[in-house]
Amino acid sequence: MQDFKFYAPTEVAFGRQAEEQVAPLVKKYGGTKVLVHYGGQSAIRSGLLDKICGLLDEGGIPFVKLGGVVPNPRLSLAKKGIDLCRSEGVDFILAVGGGSVIDSAKCIAYGLCMDGDVWDIYLGKVKPTAMVPVASVLTIPAAGSEMSWSSVITNEDGDVKLGYSDDISRPKFAIMNPERTFTLPPYQTAAGVTDMMMHTMERYFTKDDDMDITTDLAEALLRSMKNAVFAVLKNPEDYRYRAQIMWGGSLMHNGLTGCGISDDWATHQLEHELSGMFDVTHGAGLAAVWPSWARYVMHENLSRFVRFAVNVMDVPNDFTDPEATALKGIEAMERFYHDIGMPINIRELIGREITDDEIREMVRKCSRNYKSTCGRLKVLHAEDMEAIYHMAKG
Ligand code: NZQ
Ligand code: ZN
Repeated sequence: MQDFKFYAPTEVAFGRQAEEQVAPLVKKYGGTKVLVHYGGQSAIRSGLLDKICGLLDEGGIPFVKLGGVVPNPRLSLAKKGIDLCRSEGVDFILAVGGGSVIDSAKCIAYGLCMDGDVWDIYLGKVKPTAMVPVASVLTIPAAGSEMSWSSVITNEDGDVKLGYSDDISRPKFAIMNPERTFTLPPYQTAAGVTDMMMHTMERYFTKDDDMDITTDLAEALLRSMKNAVFAVLKNPEDYRYRAQIMWGGSLMHNGLTGCGISDDWATHQLEHELSGMFDVTHGAGLAAVWPSWARYVMHENLSRFVRFAVNVMDVPNDFTDPEATALKGIEAMERFYHDIGMPINIRELIGREITDDEIREMVRKCSRNYKSTCGRLKVLHAEDMEAIYHMAKG
């Protein structure tokens, strides 16, 4: 078993009236002037933004607003946020939205505590030592950023999407009201569930077979999400299952399903090149890559893929042929993706065949100019990445 640290300091306020706690929570974590950061339209349309601003007003907490965060959040807006926060004396950033808004908030928070270019953090040139506190009012369960140590930012100059992970960026609190997710369109709902399941699958597919608690927890969470997504696609206002998904998204990326095992993350790295290049929804990009990755690496720990097939995908175990059972598990996952409206290859994701030049460019970026590998179950070199992208062409 691997040694591990479990660190999940984010306070969670969960339930139908959870946002009522926003002002006391901001005060509890030291905020005296807040940036309310949000996305495009959804938080305005639903009235959530006005509600949060009203609650801050009532609580006597001054704030400024900055909207316009897009999925695959851009560096340029974060830099605008840094300038705004400096001129306004902001000392607390409240993200009202999903992973993109929270990640943009984290980027602003890093930038406020350094002199140079915040992008240097994502390039790995600078290690931040402090940041302004960040918290969220979550509106889409997916990225898990509300409790995670990561943020992923896209630099429009070259369409480069890079993540940076650091415990100092774990948010102070997360307000989660499942009713706020009733308005999510089916595609975002499904892509969100795909992403959160993948956060646990990136950890589950490991060579470490000796941490039963983590493996059992992972399988239970994956099964719960599989069931819940069908319930909410049928009835978007099903509180019970919206709640399972909202809490599941946090548990599947706050470190709980990674204790004592080594994690992989190759599918995420391969996907980040897709959403960096084609600006597609992250969860859908993961579904387009995972089946090919799985077929490429499954022999590194075949029994894990068999276990996944049987315990998560309900495939009957053919004890005489583990490879066939493992493959049936991958096929069952593809059927699941199709059933919830997700792609299973790049053609379905972007609506056309990807070119060989585009694949070469993604391999160059993913391998950091052929200097870096990704993945741990099987360490992927540039030629492996290229092979997987070709398998995933569709
Ligand atoms: O901009 P608005 O109008 O709010 O619309 C958003 C957006 O178009 C919409 N939406 C959000 N809440 C809604 C809603 N629509 C209706 N009703 C609601 N209640 O949903 C769309 C997607 O939002 P976004 O924040 O982009 O989704 P998600 O949470 O999936 O975040 C994706 C980003 O997170 C990164 C991804 O790479 C991607 O950039 N990730 C961040 C991670 C982390 N920080 O730990 C880990 C992940 O693996 C992931 O890489
Ligand atoms: Zn993800």
